[in-house]
Amino acid sequence: MLSAKIAGVGHYVPEQIVSNNHLTAYMDTSDEWIQERTGIKERRFADRTGETTTTMAIQAARVAIERAGTTAEEIDFIIFATLSPDYYFPGCGVLLQRAMKMKEIGALDIRNQCSGFVYALSVADQFIKTGMYRNILVVGSEKHSFGLDFSTRGRNISVIFGDGAGAVVVQPADREGQGILSTHLHSDGESAELLAMFNPGTHANHWTNEPLASFDEAPIGNMFMSHQMIDQAQLYPTMDGPAVFKKAIVKFPEVIMEALNRHHLQTSDLNLLIPHQANLRIAQFVQQHLKLRDDQVFNNIEKYGNTTAASIPIALSEAWELGKIQTGDLVCLAAFGSGYTWGSALIRW
Ligand code: UT7
Repeated sequence: MLSAKIAGVGHYVPEQIVSNNHLTAYMDTSDEWIQERTGIKERRFADRTGETTTTMAIQAARVAIERAGTTAEEIDFIIFATLSPDYYFPGCGVLLQRAMKMKEIGALDIRNQCSGFVYALSVADQFIKTGMYRNILVVGSEKHSFGLDFSTRGRNISVIFGDGAGAVVVQPADREGQGILSTHLHSDGESAELLAMFNPGTHANHWTNEPLASFDEAPIGNMFMSHQMIDQAQLYPTMDGPAVFKKAIVKFPEVIMEALNRHHLQTSDLNLLIPHQANLRIAQFVQQHLKLRDDQVFNNIEKYGNTTAASIPIALSEAWELGKIQTGDLVCLAAFGSGYTWGSALIRW
């Protein structure tokens, strides 16, 4: 069976830098609180009208495609991970296919939030292994800034997230032992509501059993979006941060060790761990728990915040540009987030 390699990496972050101090103009927060709890100093926000999740993905994709030594016309499948799509439907994959003038290839959108990129990479890996495709574009992109609650009510979430995009091109490996060694995907829906954006949706409070205040006034159907949702700020993501934190610091090390154990490797064999950039405190906990040196872990959350599906490919691309990933290196990508879903990918570069 063919194995798959990452042939090219690229990323794009918007120009607009939003510092922690900048956010204090809109909500009761402070630079000190944000840095102390999350490690974030600043994040990027997309141009409000000039940039979308898809346009940022295109910028990242162009770089990845060029570095892979291929062209947009040669891409034979698109996998697009995001939780902040341009449209509710259709997905961003087709918008990218259209804008990049690609052939009438398949375009798959992945909705796995923070672990979206690892899931997407895993799908690409399987398609390469079976020989179905030979040149797959995998992107993670987010325009969070458009859908956050920037009042004090939403501060536990809105200070964390930032915008940006990352992309890779996945191709068959050139030699034995190179490329994606394995991927490991997991989910546990027990706490699905602890990190979620409920509306617009078809749930009608089915899973939470909360009363539907305006149900009687609604015409047949049409509970997808209501004035009540807008008036009561129910169109924003919500999160029980401490609960997510506690689960993350268990599942990150678990899924990293699962990948290493599969290949009888040790943490000392790892050249670089790229954890999803959720919170610097989570990454530090994982590093300590696995007894990894500083040079074995790559973090850039201080500059970009949490960019969900984009965080791993942005970090991968930056680490590669900085020369931190060399041929033959053992690289582990690991993510955990809403769902909960989590996963890892172990790569021999
Ligand atoms: O990538 C997706 C997965 N997501 C994650 O992995 C996130 C995991 N969770 C976290 O990163 C952390 O839980 C947060 C950074 C979200 C929050 O940090 P925390 O240390 O868990 O704080 P907390 O939610 O327990 O809140 C502590 C206090 C509260 O005030 P009281 O009740 O103690 O008076 C909050 O209201 O901090 C308050 N607070 C804030 N204060 C200033 C919450 N957000 C803010 C804020 N600025 N932005």
